[in-house]
Amino acid sequence: MSPTPGRLVDSFGRVHNNLRISVTDRCNIRCVYCMPETVKFMPRDQLLSFEEIARFVGIVAPLGVDKIRLTGGEPLLRKDLDVLIRMLVAIEGVADVGLTTNGMLLAPVAAKLRDAGLERINVSLDTLDPARFERLSRRKGLEDAIEGVLAAKRAGFDPVKLNAVIIRGFNEEDVAPLARFAREHALEMRFIEYMPLDAGHLWEREKVVFAQEILDVLASEVGPLAPSADRDPRAPALDYDYLDGGGRVGLIASVSRPFCLSCNRLRLTSDGKLRNCLFALDETDVKGLLRSGGPAEEVERAVAASVAAKWEGHEINTARFIQPDRPMYSIGG
Ligand code: 5AD
Ligand code: SF4
Repeated sequence: MSPTPGRLVDSFGRVHNNLRISVTDRCNIRCVYCMPETVKFMPRDQLLSFEEIARFVGIVAPLGVDKIRLTGGEPLLRKDLDVLIRMLVAIEGVADVGLTTNGMLLAPVAAKLRDAGLERINVSLDTLDPARFERLSRRKGLEDAIEGVLAAKRAGFDPVKLNAVIIRGFNEEDVAPLARFAREHALEMRFIEYMPLDAGHLWEREKVVFAQEILDVLASEVGPLAPSADRDPRAPALDYDYLDGGGRVGLIASVSRPFCLSCNRLRLTSDGKLRNCLFALDETDVKGLLRSGGPAEEVERAVAASVAAKWEGHEINTARFIQPDRPMYSIGG
């Protein structure tokens, strides 16, 4: 009997159709909210191969997973990513493949990725100031990142989204300039609240710039906004439109307004572990099952069990919160 689409329903009724796949834990920069200063990356043979990733997607697509996003680390460090994209878009049931990148390696490959069937691009860009870029990411590279954003736009990606994590004491002053830059280039700007997923465990509530504060800055320094009429209640971003028609801004209020109750996501780490939550403390080893050459049903059962065990939501706002051992670069965002 073939499995019923939409079978990945957890005990809170949430349907899981969205899979984020980290293709590498390596990165060419070292953002403070994510990576440690010095980092030991995984040996390459620990990474899932393209064939293993495609086999996994081929197993979960009939269970209702139709939306895929490739992440890292920095996913463009993985050689021939367009080949993986082609493999994934060819899988029956996969409706949409997206990519989240820091943009630094994007310009030369944007058109090739689009040809391969990539639908969406999100570029993480937290500042437009070279000195703050270097302080935030502990590397130079702002020009390449901006070049990458503009190349994605030229290659026809629409929308190109920009993601900025705003941290008090680092880049609050970038909120308005980033929003203006996005308006100027017809990009969709999204501001993300800083979450406790940094390798250094230095997160503090006081460093989070909450969505409301960002909205206030936008309204007073960029232009009046109103909640978007077509806001998707399941999407993590709270969308706002500029009243003058100057585009859209999203606020991802993971801390001040958790969206766990509408979460539809699963995550596959680059070393083949399935995570049912960004903040999960347990994970399911999928790589072992894929490499043992066992039947697809075994993988299906493991995925279903992980979904069934999903908790109600993260507890960042409670004293019970435990930060997972894996930082963001190793989960995939
Ligand atoms: N808090 C919030 N967002 C984060 N990201 C990485 N680490 C954190 C964190 N600690 C973001 C990146 C990227 C996305 C994948 O996750 O900026 O846009
Ligand atoms: Fe690299 Fe992304 Fe982590 Fe920044 S947030 S260090 S770009 S993986």
